[in-house]
Amino acid sequence: MNKKFYITTPIYYPSAKPHMGHAYSSIVSDFFARLKKIQGFEVFFLTGTDEHGQKIQRAAENKKKDPLKFCDEISATFKDLSKILNLSNNDFIRTTEVRHKKSVENLWKVLEKKKEIYLSKYSGWYSVSDEAFYSEDEIEDDGDLKISKLSGSKVEWVEEESYFFKLSKWQEPLLSFYDENPDFILPKTRKNEVVSFVRAGLKDLSISRKSFTWGIKVPSNNEHVIYVWLDALTNYISALNYPDQNNDLYKKFWPADVHIIGKDILRFHAIYWPAFLLAADIKPPKRVYGHGWILSGDEKMSKSKGNILDPLEIIEKYGLDPLRYYLLKEVSFGNDGNISNEKLESCINSDLANNYGNLCQRVVSFCEKNIGLKVPTSEEFNEDDLKILKNYQNNFEDLITNIDNQNINFYLNFIVDQLFKANKYFNDQEPWKRKDDKKRLNTIVYVSLEIIRKISILLYPIIPESSLKALNIFNIKEIDIDFSTILNNNYLSPGSNINKIDILFNKIKND
Ligand code: MSP
Repeated sequence: MNKKFYITTPIYYPSAKPHMGHAYSSIVSDFFARLKKIQGFEVFFLTGTDEHGQKIQRAAENKKKDPLKFCDEISATFKDLSKILNLSNNDFIRTTEVRHKKSVENLWKVLEKKKEIYLSKYSGWYSVSDEAFYSEDEIEDDGDLKISKLSGSKVEWVEEESYFFKLSKWQEPLLSFYDENPDFILPKTRKNEVVSFVRAGLKDLSISRKSFTWGIKVPSNNEHVIYVWLDALTNYISALNYPDQNNDLYKKFWPADVHIIGKDILRFHAIYWPAFLLAADIKPPKRVYGHGWILSGDEKMSKSKGNILDPLEIIEKYGLDPLRYYLLKEVSFGNDGNISNEKLESCINSDLANNYGNLCQRVVSFCEKNIGLKVPTSEEFNEDDLKILKNYQNNFEDLITNIDNQNINFYLNFIVDQLFKANKYFNDQEPWKRKDDKKRLNTIVYVSLEIIRKISILLYPIIPESSLKALNIFNIKEIDIDFSTILNNNYLSPGSNINKIDILFNKIKND
């Protein structure tokens, strides 16, 4: 099989417990991973935690804990979250693992051998919170503090011996790479930001620190630890057993198809990462997609503002699938979005409970009462039947193209539209008035069941658990789901059993 797909989430800092922003990056990535799987791709989906650096060292010190023990505890909460979010990841990498250390050390040695690294002195601004160096024109005063204009986080002055990566040398090759790979950075607006930043001139990048110890040591000089971003980015190849470039995983899955990240970490992924890889003679990933932020009200979540949205609280109150549905449908992918209880409740009540849950329930109980729990035989489809069934054929290519361009909203809008049309079809056809025309009644039920099957397949990457409950009507199991069968209008075999279905979504009542 030649269809492979490698997708990654960012690896999360285990400096505090996970929040909705982390859940968002993960859910979006899971959506693509599941979608590709049901399209017949062999998928490798990676997530994990980014555990080195000053940020983590300080967070551990604040809690008076040994950094590794501290990471063990918080990384476990991220791993738990990946289960709670029902992620289909194949691996969960921690940058404190031996396999990763080996991989980073090797990349360093390759860069050193290729004379891409030199020793000098860094003096400039550093944000521990972003683990990023900022130039003088990227910072501003904020009372007594200096902060980054980009992220708003506090910066501090650093002066120390440091190894540098010859990033400046990669300015032109990077610009050519962006030209030759016009979809490397999506969405387009973010690409423009990156390209103009690179055009403005790249300086060599400090890639080691001497003033703290929590990190992977520079192989040839144990006084330095490797800059946490060079360490972290390498996770994407460590999980494929780099430095062994001849093993099956690496050969199959590198270069990655897409790194899903938040817009705040685009510079690292779209500039530094491909530059490191080009310098090491490794192919860069095929795409980096920078999504927007999930805002709390109208603001970015932050500990200091005390406005952190906890995914677990929302899941506890509303359930996982409604949260997944909401984030994928209501946030315009690529842009910022926010969560409000009203909008979430309206998604549950109208889209999930009324349009989807109710459709399944209604059709199955009509079937049970009128023809028994077996798939009926259909007559030739009439114009009305063909009109609704053809929507899937007519949009099939567009659905795939849009998915491949990470246009989640096209996909979701299609589903919402089909749900609406499906309910309208069942209402307009009035099968309850056709009791004396068994053939037509059977055909209406058959078409309705087919539509439930198609919509449930489309919904699988979004709300896997609920979709599987609905597909159980037809005894379709997870392993049998095949995206291309939405093209087949006669998939269901007449006479096969139909299972009853419990209520999929409870409506939220606010008195
Ligand atoms: N450890 C780095 C990533 C290294 S990847 C090689 C990091 N970690 S993070 O925990 O701070 O953030 C991880 C991801 O969560 C980032 O993509 C970030 O954009 C995303 N989010 C953090 N807050 C967010 C929101 N409020 N909304 C959406 N996503 C945001 O950065």
